[in-house]
Amino acid sequence: MIIAVDGPTASGKGTISKALAGHFGLPHLDTGLLYRAVGRQVALNGGDADNAADALAACDFPESLLADDVLRSEGSGSLASRASVHPQVRQALFERQRAFAQQAGGAVLDGRDIGTVIVPEADAKLFVTASVQSRAVRRHAEMVGRGESATLEEIEADLARRDARDMNRMDAPLVPAKDAMIFDTTHFDKDEAIAAAIEAVNARLSG
Ligand code: DC
Repeated sequence: MIIAVDGPTASGKGTISKALAGHFGLPHLDTGLLYRAVGRQVALNGGDADNAADALAACDFPESLLADDVLRSEGSGSLASRASVHPQVRQALFERQRAFAQQAGGAVLDGRDIGTVIVPEADAKLFVTASVQSRAVRRHAEMVGRGESATLEEIEADLARRDARDMNRMDAPLVPAKDAMIFDTTHFDKDEAIAAAIEAVNARLSG
């Protein structure tokens, strides 16, 4: 069983994916972390995330980087969004994601193009979204919890910029797959969103 979860930053897709993986007993891959590692590695190399050759060279990041908390920062998210525009980078990360999806027993993957490009044959596809204002409030609370400082306005502007870049890029833009279930979490708390996602996936699997 393969479950594909796509959606913009801070929509709740990570939380929902982890909960689905736990509920269905499947391994989970946060594909955004791979792009974040590329973005971070570009910076460590002294390169430019907007430059395709620099971004491609950073796809050789060491595995240990994936465990680095710095990948959770807004700075790494922004670098990831810029590095992920390049088709060469998407191609370099494709096989790894595809192999994870195809392991025996199945998997849950979350990202931007899982249902459209990585596993178009997934058994259930969720497109998780929420208003930019509510996503900014959530991200702000997470950042405050980590002791990072930023105003709500700055975060909202950054999310809007990131959404525009992710949705308008030429290669694998952020769009719902035709057969995705659209899932708006704006008015849901965490437990409600998880319960509704499990119900939606069960309905799709039995339908
Ligand atoms: O989900 P996230 O915020 O960790 O993702 C960071 C950036 O990585 C996002 O702005 C775009 C890129 N990304 C992507 O292009 N494709 C994916 N499957 C996952 C993330």
